[in-house]
This record gives sequence, structure tokens and C-alpha cells, in this order.
Amino acid sequence: MRTDTNRTVYLKDYQPTDFIIESIDLVFDLGETLTTVGSEIRMHRRPGADPAAPLVFAGDGLALSGLALDGKPLLPERYDCDASTLTIRDLPEDGSFTLTIKTRINPSANSELLGLYRTSGIYSTQCEAEGFRRITYFYDRPDVLAVYTVTIIADKQSCPLLLSNGNLVEEQDLGDGRHMAKWHDPFKKPSYLFALVAGDLTMIEDSFTTMSGRHVALRIYVEHGKAARAGYAMDSLKRAMKWDEERFGREYDLDIFMIVAVSDFNMGAMENKGLNIFNDRLILADPETATDDDYARIEAVVAHEYFHNWTGNRITCRDWFQLSLKEGLTVYREHEFSADQRSRPVVRVDEVKFLRAHQFPEDGGPLAHPVRPTQYLEIDNFYTTTVYEKGSEVSRMIATLLGPDGFRKGLDLFFERHDGGAVTIEDYLKCFEDATGHDLTHFALWYHQAGTPVISVASFYDERKQQLKLTLSQTTPPTPDEKIKKPLHIPLRVGLIGPNGADMAPTAITGGESRKDVLELTKDEQTFVFEGIGARPAVSVNRDFSAPVKIRFDQSREDRLRIAGAERDLVARWDTVNALALEVLVKAAEDVKAGRPVTTDPALSDLLVATAEDTALEPAFRALALTLPGELDIGREIGADIDPDAIHLARNTVIEAIAEAGADSFAQLTGDMANGGAFSPDAQSAGRRALRNAALVLAAAAEKSPRRASQAYESADNMTDMLAAMRVLAHQFAGSAEAENALADFRRRFAGEPLVLDKWFSTLATVPGENTLERVTKLMGDEAFDEGNPNRVRALIGAFASSNPTGFNRPDGAGYAFFADFILTSDKRNATLTARLMTAMRSFEALEPSRRALAREQIERIAAHDDLSRNLRDIVDRMLK
Ligand code: ARG
Ligand code: ZN
Repeated sequence: MRTDTNRTVYLKDYQPTDFIIESIDLVFDLGETLTTVGSEIRMHRRPGADPAAPLVFAGDGLALSGLALDGKPLLPERYDCDASTLTIRDLPEDGSFTLTIKTRINPSANSELLGLYRTSGIYSTQCEAEGFRRITYFYDRPDVLAVYTVTIIADKQSCPLLLSNGNLVEEQDLGDGRHMAKWHDPFKKPSYLFALVAGDLTMIEDSFTTMSGRHVALRIYVEHGKAARAGYAMDSLKRAMKWDEERFGREYDLDIFMIVAVSDFNMGAMENKGLNIFNDRLILADPETATDDDYARIEAVVAHEYFHNWTGNRITCRDWFQLSLKEGLTVYREHEFSADQRSRPVVRVDEVKFLRAHQFPEDGGPLAHPVRPTQYLEIDNFYTTTVYEKGSEVSRMIATLLGPDGFRKGLDLFFERHDGGAVTIEDYLKCFEDATGHDLTHFALWYHQAGTPVISVASFYDERKQQLKLTLSQTTPPTPDEKIKKPLHIPLRVGLIGPNGADMAPTAITGGESRKDVLELTKDEQTFVFEGIGARPAVSVNRDFSAPVKIRFDQSREDRLRIAGAERDLVARWDTVNALALEVLVKAAEDVKAGRPVTTDPALSDLLVATAEDTALEPAFRALALTLPGELDIGREIGADIDPDAIHLARNTVIEAIAEAGADSFAQLTGDMANGGAFSPDAQSAGRRALRNAALVLAAAAEKSPRRASQAYESADNMTDMLAAMRVLAHQFAGSAEAENALADFRRRFAGEPLVLDKWFSTLATVPGENTLERVTKLMGDEAFDEGNPNRVRALIGAFASSNPTGFNRPDGAGYAFFADFILTSDKRNATLTARLMTAMRSFEALEPSRRALAREQIERIAAHDDLSRNLRDIVDRMLK
């Protein structure tokens, strides 16, 4: 890991391998500190490849203990081997041979959780992106597809369960207290999709009959005692399988589909063929331990990994630069699934919030990169919101431009043409062009140009001509990789709302391409003319968030209030309510900074109260409207010279004004929306809870008393309500007896539930104010905290650094120093996790000068170490550039 910090990989250097792998047979003899891996690889030289070219396999920290060619041990002069490469020369003339490799690894010492590792008694693997090379020497790259047969030998007692990809073909008791299982995966796959799990787990089982009538066994493996909590994941899986058949015609292809939940996992989950491995927080749920957000996340990620079976596994990436080919598309499929299972606009608003909170700052900061990057130092650092979520938005825009049928046709062609292949973004786009006749040449720039476009809008209504003119200009700010940006091909959905609140339909739209209500922007500046508009409309732009852009539109307050009160596109309606609130909050922060009294805005209070009370709207939407932009959102909107303390104070002042204006309504809602009857995780019930808890924040602020939240905590019969009440107590009434009682009760009640205690750690780590650092430091000594467990680290340290603006950015810089210390220790243990954690500081340049200098000092202190992992080196160097 600490080697080769200079090996930048470039897209332009792509070359296919000199040899083609036909099959690989692996034998794992599992031991806690010594596992031997035998690999037998049948291969031949690629036709046309240089006959003198050596075979070069990748490794990472491996110890070679045997090497043979066609059954004969290889003499040392025929090969070179170090921890990261195995090179074999003078290969047989005819180019066809079998290679046998033996390596020895220590799964218990693998704290990186990459490759084969053993934690909490379970052996499991994580191979994407380059973890397979930590198991054996191989062509560890996505364009090398092979048939895998895997034999696992292990102690029967500690590992009754032995799993790998594909179908179980043999089981044997070896008589000496050990047993073996052999798995065969008939589908060719790249090494990153290899998986192995061994240990003692329990499972729940179900089945699914596919659209062609095939029977598929479904199993979810979890820790003993947790089986009852796997039911929702199983239900989600079955719904996802059905949905993918109906929506995209995709059928599952093996006889068995397995999911294993493990407690030590770097990421969310992994789509290994037929054997998905999950972070257990994305599988386990019951009303007492999981929130509504957890349920929604589980449903989405179970579906996401399942959808990868076609978008990722059956068709994979030629190289890692194409990562968004599978991730962007699969996120889009996941988003569509969630929208169909839940409330479409509410799901969409959550996506917009996520994109703005995470992807926009990435695109606007030192780590900006295109959806398809052209170079990387460490690929693990490119599993980003740009590749995933912006990539998803790009597929969504293709669907918007082509229409649902055109999109489906293109995707059908993609599956037909590329099944079994390892392909590129160009291959993907070509399918849509060939299937529909659309030219996507200009559109493709979305994959290659980093940065968030800004669209400026000016509207002019001509009553005499009954025309509305809309002038739209686009610019994309420079990013570190590229100063000059070109205009993009942007589909922008636009609505014209008449004086009575209804949509106005133009008789024609001229000035550029358009498809129904979608304008196609292609130039720096364009003017679209809407004909036959009988009265001055309020213009609603970027309905449904049709493009991942920022809109600058100096609209009259009257128009905005019309949109906020009547827009039928609920995404645009929410966006307008949110923007009005953000404007007031930003102004308030400026007031605080300038030492002026804070000006609040009664019209905003009226709007929010009216929206909260509007029973024509679904509760989940009302909850979204009622949840004010957070301190981080305000900071991002301000963009430069950020003072977190001023923002905190300003936001509290505005909240108080709103809370007082709607005190009775909010108090009323906390009661009206209470759970009637048994808990159900469905979206409607979740929406009622969301509204109730959004109202609780404001009701408590109006009452200036922890009493209501304390009662809500006591009477909560589910984790959503309990956590919401505890957060109000901890954050709005920090230090009160009620807050401390609830926190202590929660800690005691869930002492044996690490995933629930993560919520407690996060709640405490995000208490505003400079004293939180001391608490976080103390919590690191809590017996439930484990520096080796990624979930714990993210819950405490991650939440503190990325979601506590006043605490982390203490004026004295102690937050940064603490964080830098943690980063330096953590990097030795788990580089993937540490590098990701480090990105919490990527926007430090936007802070006011004093904090900015203190933050830089700490980042520079980290960068000054010469033994950083490649992952961390890459991130800090780019941050400081
Ligand atoms: N492919 C996985 C997914 O479903 C994520 C794997 C992440 N691996 C990594 N090394 N960052 O999104
Ligand atoms: Zn994925």
C-alpha cells in the first residue's frame, strides 16, 4: 500500500492484455493467521500479441510459495516476483499453458478490509477495485473475464458455512475436523466480482420465480440472533427482482442469489456475482432499531446491488475509467426503483438534496473530476458522488432527451449488443444513438467535462404579441483540471404557471430544439420564445430537476410565491420554498457577521406554516418543506469567507421566528401525526413520522422547553421517533437534564447493538458548539467505540468532521488538529476509509481567513509525512494544490 505513490494511471494508455484467461480454479485452505491460496489458471496468448512478451500479473503485499507451468515448477531464472508484480518470461511457443500459483496470506492481519479478511470470526472478501491482487497474483483488471471454480477448505466448527459465487457443486467432510465446499460460476467474470465468505452465520430463505418461470433460491445470511431483522431486505430484494423484469426486461440468471451481511465493511455493499456482500447496517432493520431512513436506504441498496447483475456484471467496464458505466447507470436504475416504490417527488427531492450537499461541492472544489476521469493515482478515491450520482443524472438526462421509450430501446440494445462484454462509455452512448437515431456527440461532454454548469435565466413577457421570451445562458466555472469550459447539451424542463395557478400551454416554442416542455440548451446563450401566452406567467425552470445545474434567476417575489404555493411539479415547488428559506438564512448570517440585528421574514414564516398545514399535500412533502436548510447548506450557498458561528446563530434566530409564528400548528402536528396502531415502514407512514418530527423541532423551539421532546422520547415506540426526539434534546437543549437523561437511557438500552449506538455516537458528535470536541475525544474511549470498524469511525469521527460545522471548525483550530491526528493513525490501519474521511476537509478554502489558515496548517502537517498511503497522499496533495 505504501509503495508506488507515483504510479499515475492514464486512460490513454489502455492496452488489452497479452494473454487471455480461460478459467481459474482456486483452492482456499482457510486459517486465521495463515491461509494458503492455490490458483490454477488456463490461458493462451492473445492472437497477434508479441510472442516474446512476458506475462505480467499484479499482486499487493503477497508472499509467493509456489509457481509451476504446465505442472512443472518454474526455475527462478524464468520469473521475477516481488510484493506487487509477478513477471514470467519465455512462455511456451504455442502460447497455451496452465499456470499454478500458491500464495500465503494472513486474513486476521488485514485491517484494510480489502482482499480476504477475517473479523468477528467471519472470513469475507472485498475485491473491487483492486483487492483480488491481495489474494493471488492475477490480471486484476475488469476487462479480463474468466470462469471461476472455487474450493474452500476450513474448520467445520468455526466455519460451518462456506460460500462463493455461482452454484454449489460439491461438499465433503474431510474427516479431520475440516470440510470443503466447491462452487462453480458458469458466467465469466472479472476478478473484482469474486467473493468468498466462511464462518458461522444464520440465514433466512425465500424464493423467486422469474418471468420465464425459473425458480431462484434467495438467502440472506446474518449474525446469529439477527434473522428477524433481515425480513425487510428480503422483501426489498423480491420487489427489486420483479421491478427489473417489468421495467427493463431483466431476468436473474443463476439458480441461487445470496446476500451476506458483515459488520466490518469499508463501503455500503458489493455486487459480487450471485453473492452480494453488505455492510450489515444496510440489511438489518426492525422498528425498534432502524429509522425510516434506514429502511429506505436498505431498500435502495439491496436493489442497487441486485441491479448490478445486469449493469456491471453481465456487462462490465473495460477499465476503471469507465466506472460510471456501471455505477451511474445502476444508481439511476436504483433511483427509478425507489421512485416507483415510494413517492416519486419526495424521492426526487431527496436526490436533489444529496446531489447539492455532496456532488456540487466536490465539483466546485479541489477534488473535482469528470464523470469519466482520464487519470488516477488511486482508483479507490474515484468511487465518488460525481461518478455515482452525477453519473446517474447523466443517464437520467439521456432518458429525458430520448423519452422513456427511446431510453428503453437504447438500453435493450446495450444488453443485446454487449452482454458478456467489458465496455466503455462510448459503447453505451452508441446504443442510444443506434436505437433512436439521436446524435449524442455533444451530449457526451457531460462525461468529460467537470464542474457544475450555472444557467442564468431572464424572462420577458410581451402582452401585445402574447409571447414569453426566455433567454438562457450557461457557464461552467473552471476546475483544477481545466480552465476553459464548453457549453453543454442540457435538457431543461420548464413550466409556465398562469395567474390562477394552472399550467399555460404555449401554441409553439421557437428559438431552439424542444421536446414538449423540455428545452434543449446547446449554446452559450439562447432565447426561446413561447407563443400564445395570454397572461404574464410565473416561470418555473428545471422542473423535476431535469438537469444537475445551478439556476440563477432574478425572479420577482410574487412569482416565486406563486410557484411555492401552486406549482404542480412538487420538486420545483419544494426547490422554490427551499430557495426562499435559504435566502432569508443567508441574509441573516450576513447580519450576524456585520453585527447587525437579524432581519427575519414574516412572509417566509407564513409560507412554511401554510405548507405545513396544507392537507392537500402529502405529509412527507410537507416535512421536506418544513425542514430548513442546514448550517452546511447555508455555508455552501455563501460559498466563501464562511463563519460557522455566525451561520449557527443566524439559523437559530430565523428558526425561532418561524417557530413562534406557527407555534400552535407545529404543536398540533406533533400530535396529529402520531402513530396510530402498529408500526409500518411504508412510505406514507414514514411521511407522517417525518412531518411529526419536523414539527417537533419547531414546536420545541417555540416553547423553549425540552418537555415536549422529552415526552416524545419516552413515548416513542419506534427508532425513528426515538432518535428524532433524542436529537432535538441533544442539539436544541444541550446540557439539560432531559437531554442527558435521554442520552444515558439510549446508551444503556442499546448497549449490545453497535448499529444503534452509531446513531448515538453521531448525535453526540454533531451537538453544535466548541465543547463537542472534548466529548468526541472522550467517546473514543467508550467501550462500544472501535477504531477498526468503519461504521463506528464514520459515526463518530466522520460525523464530527463533516456534519458539525461549529464544533469541528472551532476558532482555535483544535478540531482540525484532533482530526489530523486521527487521520495519521487511521491511515496505517485502513487507507481506503481514511482517504474518504479526509475529504471532509476538502472545502477548507471557503472558510474565513483565520480558520482557513489553521485548517491548511493541519492538512500540510499530514502531507509532510512521507509514509502516507497512496490513497491519502492522493487526496491531501490534490487538496493542497
Ligand atoms: N461496486 C460497489 C457498489 O455497489 C462499491 C464498491 C466500492 N469499492 C471501493 N473500493 N471503493 O457501489
Ligand atoms: Zn454500485
